[in-house]
Amino acid sequence: MLYSRTKGGTARVKIINVVGARPNFMKMAPIIDAMNRYPKQIRHLLIHTGQHYDEKMSKAFFDDLGMPKPDIDLGIGSGSQAEQTGKIMIAFERVCLTERPDLVIVVGDVNSTMACTITAKKLGIKVAHVEAGLRSRDMSMPEEINRLCTDVLCDHLYTTDRIANENLRKEGVAEDKIHFVGNVMIDTLLKHKQMASQLDLRQALGLESDGYATLTLHRPSNVDDRQVLQGIFEALREISSDLPVVFPIHPRTRKMVSEFNLGHYFNENKPVAGIWLTEPLGYLEFLHLNMQAKMVLTDSGGLQEETTVLGVPCLTMRNNTERPITCEMGTNVMVGNQPSEILTQAKKVLSGESKPSRIPEKWDGHAAERIVGHILETCCTWQTGDEARI
Ligand code: UD1
Repeated sequence: MLYSRTKGGTARVKIINVVGARPNFMKMAPIIDAMNRYPKQIRHLLIHTGQHYDEKMSKAFFDDLGMPKPDIDLGIGSGSQAEQTGKIMIAFERVCLTERPDLVIVVGDVNSTMACTITAKKLGIKVAHVEAGLRSRDMSMPEEINRLCTDVLCDHLYTTDRIANENLRKEGVAEDKIHFVGNVMIDTLLKHKQMASQLDLRQALGLESDGYATLTLHRPSNVDDRQVLQGIFEALREISSDLPVVFPIHPRTRKMVSEFNLGHYFNENKPVAGIWLTEPLGYLEFLHLNMQAKMVLTDSGGLQEETTVLGVPCLTMRNNTERPITCEMGTNVMVGNQPSEILTQAKKVLSGESKPSRIPEKWDGHAAERIVGHILETCCTWQTGDEARI
């Protein structure tokens, strides 16, 4: 390992933390916070690949989460799967060659996660993956390919639950690489819950507590096919006649709605009624609305976990999930993308039928501390006495 040396001669481990897309930011924020407690042991840089670049998909989250400005923004932007991945690899290789980190940390399952893992490993740099071992077993999802490639290469695999540990074992991963630390996304949720509850957005929109649903939709399998997307909107229109639906629309989905001419399903004006379309919301605003929603309809990964902890019913419009613990223990129900099943399950929630929810093990707000504790143990063992704080 290439331990960096400060002027005083103290050895510090140099870490590059990578983020790229919206769901990465809330996972990295608590890790940075935890690292900041060990300035003598850890020097860290934040690299944003720029996979997500819109103010509302990126900067708003940095502000809400109190994250430092990235030290380096690769400014990659959108592109095809290969184009985006390739551009990230080329740009990240230059960063690694200049910065020569001891460790790269990647989170989640987006293209930036996989691209930076491959790049760093080929340069002989150790890589740690946060949220390792999740598997949907659906190879039509770009994220599943990203998860598999990332986990097979990484040196440290930090997992959110025991199912993920088992997945990795079955794939032949050595036991000493698997570290069950809990869920960093839940660290962020628990930290911000109170702040979010104090916002007045719900009242400003004229919504009653428990009197509306929230909706997110962006998976290619749901939004890239006109018939599928229209079927989902038909079901949602029916739900919204009983319960207004707040829909902060993802840029990918907005593009498809306009291409397929489906704008007539939405209300973009106040008062909030029917399916109410709005720009992507900030982290705190969306958490605030989700906390008091009657139900959440989604195809996102992270929301399945957040609703489990909030105890809010979640209908996931997919046929599989890489997060089965949210169905086993939490409020999550897989409803696919066919209108009839979406409606059946939504009506159950509307009639007061909902699953009891238990909080998975180690989803307790301390996952990032466990990760940094492990890094200090494995990378900073040469430090003794006052210098070591663990
Ligand atoms: C990506 C992740 C997905 C994650 C999602 C969260 C991959 C393969 N997918 O999907 O796992 O759940 O982010 O949002 O990494 N766009 C903008 N502005 C932006 C970002 C995207 O306009 O700031 C538009 C572009 O038209 C782009 C499209 O959205 O072509 C898709 O963006 P991309 O990053 O490729 O994938 P997502 O669908 O956002």
